[in-house]
Amino acid sequence: DWTSDVFIDASIADLKAKIGSDKVVMGLSGGVDSSVAATLIHRAIGENLICVFVDNGLLRKNEFEEVLDSYKHMGLNVIGVDAKQKFYDALAGVTDPEAKRKAIGNAFIEVFDEESNKLEGVKWLGQGTIYPDVIESISVKGPSATIKSHHNVGGLPDFMKLSVVEPLNTLFKDEVREVGRALEIVEKIIGRHPFPGPGLGIRILGDVTADKVKTLQEVDYIFIQGLKDHGLYDQVWQAGAMLLPIQSVGVMGDERTYEKVVALRAVGSVDGMTADWIHLPYEFLGKISNEIINKVKGVNRVVYDISSKPPATIEWE
Ligand code: XMP
Repeated sequence: DWTSDVFIDASIADLKAKIGSDKVVMGLSGGVDSSVAATLIHRAIGENLICVFVDNGLLRKNEFEEVLDSYKHMGLNVIGVDAKQKFYDALAGVTDPEAKRKAIGNAFIEVFDEESNKLEGVKWLGQGTIYPDVIESISVKGPSATIKSHHNVGGLPDFMKLSVVEPLNTLFKDEVREVGRALEIVEKIIGRHPFPGPGLGIRILGDVTADKVKTLQEVDYIFIQGLKDHGLYDQVWQAGAMLLPIQSVGVMGDERTYEKVVALRAVGSVDGMTADWIHLPYEFLGKISNEIINKVKGVNRVVYDISSKPPATIEWE
């Protein structure tokens, strides 16, 4: 029978044997998988694991600072890199969803390569790959897929010459969470919803700018905080907001407005392969809609996405 404690002991012994006194570099995303994988490797080899957490400017509001802080509290050896502008530059004028993913993936590779080249004597690349990623599934659009396509296209980044270590590649998401809890990782990280690697970059339909990111961060924050405050967060598998590339007419006081529309999305799912839209209470939706329109400058309309997957996907891009 699988238990997290047995898994953890075996995994740590295995990692120690495999890695010995070598150094490992690993990119952290703030998500469950990379955080659990890093903690496990850290338990095995301590300071020889060097983590890199990149601010791509497409994270949720305050996420970079808060998550970096959690990592430091967990004792991880982590380098925080502010690369916001690099990502915004790479995204300027790019509107096609797959082109955006590529731009974001390539910018990430550049930043990560630059950081790992500063480190001496690294032999391994740690990754938070989990079993469903291995069997195609959601990682088809994920960062590892991006790295692969990059790899096929041209020069191999230096960090790709490292041997890969993926301690979670036999686990499902619920098992990863169980392992994370047994490792005493804070619930704030373990219980968090999945968040796509390209982040808000694929929730801003059309081209991405720093201003649009700011707007969407505020909208998303109100929605996610609302879910938490109303005890709904844990009943939802994933939630977020999309900034639509259209404006609609509204009225404020005696003034006509012509401003942005945002869509809220909350789904239930097991693995992201299929998903049902969640019947959030009307009162809740009404309250959140009012709060968004009152507080977020430039948004005058909120809609709720009632499509399931398939045929719709969870993300809009
Ligand atoms: P879709 O939109 O395909 O999303 O129904 C399924 C799950 O995958 C996430 N997703 C991504 N994750 N890179 C990622 O790391 C991506 O490019 C990407 N696209 C979608 C999405 O958030 C959902 O959890």
